[in-house]
Amino acid sequence: MADHPSKFIRTLKGEAQSTPPMWFMRQAGRYLPEYRATREQAGGFLDLCYNPELAAEVTFQPIRRYGLDAAILFADILLIPQALGVDVRFEAGEGPVLEPVRNGSALSALGERDIHETLSPIYETVRLVRDGLPKDVALIGFAGAPWTVATYVLAGGGVKDPAALRRYYYDDPDFVLGLIKKITDATIDYLIRQIDAGADAIQLFDTWAGGLPAPVTRTLSIEPMAQIADAIKAARPDIPVIMFPKGGFGFLTEYASLPSCDAVGIDFAAPWAAARDTVRPHAAVQGGLDPLLVVAGGAPMENAARELVETFKDTPYVFNLGHGFVPETPPENVARLIDIVRCS
Ligand code: CP3
Repeated sequence: MADHPSKFIRTLKGEAQSTPPMWFMRQAGRYLPEYRATREQAGGFLDLCYNPELAAEVTFQPIRRYGLDAAILFADILLIPQALGVDVRFEAGEGPVLEPVRNGSALSALGERDIHETLSPIYETVRLVRDGLPKDVALIGFAGAPWTVATYVLAGGGVKDPAALRRYYYDDPDFVLGLIKKITDATIDYLIRQIDAGADAIQLFDTWAGGLPAPVTRTLSIEPMAQIADAIKAARPDIPVIMFPKGGFGFLTEYASLPSCDAVGIDFAAPWAAARDTVRPHAAVQGGLDPLLVVAGGAPMENAARELVETFKDTPYVFNLGHGFVPETPPENVARLIDIVRCS
């Protein structure tokens, strides 16, 4: 697909660019006043996710403001547990609250209903966004990697040390693997529907891949992500898959070498040159910039952005952050960052 209209998609497929294509994790979100206004109009965060017109609107907002190379579907990784029957709420100021699943009977109740009954508005959002985007702007569909989603389901929300939840795996491996399997199977169906509705690429977010012992990393993070990517490739072979294993620096070669992995997202702690040398020639690289540099702005942000572009010069590289924008990011620093990348 060397002739794909999107420079971002061509890069994921291995083509180096003179200026890297660019998008940002959490590019739609609370740092933008127009996002806050639309969220207010929707009611709550989940109401926004399930309202196709308004979710499409917030997906477009950063594209309109900055003219990026890719839009990312506005949704959340916790919609999958919700579609499987877990009660999910977002409390103002305290993040997600879920009904924990910690035993076999709670596990067997998951997925009794068709997940698409809950998720069909998301596919409608994808259609609306794809219809409204220029051809050279790609639309990224996404899901959480099974381990990251499982941490929220096991803990009943976000916790300080998600890696410590591996103790559930040591206590009862069949239970945790059963949970991972339900999430994996649902995620495959969900992502194929996103692709069929118009998503041009898929990103899997494994925010809590870090801090696990190597064999556990392989079993709980790498294997389920590989299964999802393999299933996508088998069903929709042209669609690139990006894996973002945050904290998984020691395993970058393993993720990158998976036959169905097209690109690896690197977090803000990864050393750039080492990431370039380990991931290439297996896969393209995306990301790396510390999102807090964009809060700071000025010379520290500008110098880091130039150095990042320089490190990945002549390789297939997508400019992005090493995790999402935080709410206190000044939107004008984002504009400046984009200018720096385009002029370097
Ligand atoms: O612009 C985009 O990147 C697309 C939309 C997107 C959101 N969440 C919107 C969102 C994406 C790709 C996600 C992924 C996501 N969701 C992850 C993986 C990436 C990461 O950030 O680590 C995780 C772990 C979640 C779960 C989640 N969603 C948490 C823990 C929270 C609360 C913490 C917080 O930042 O408020 C959310 C809420 C959420 N998801 C917001 C947004 C814009 C903020 C909600 C609000 O408007 O109040």
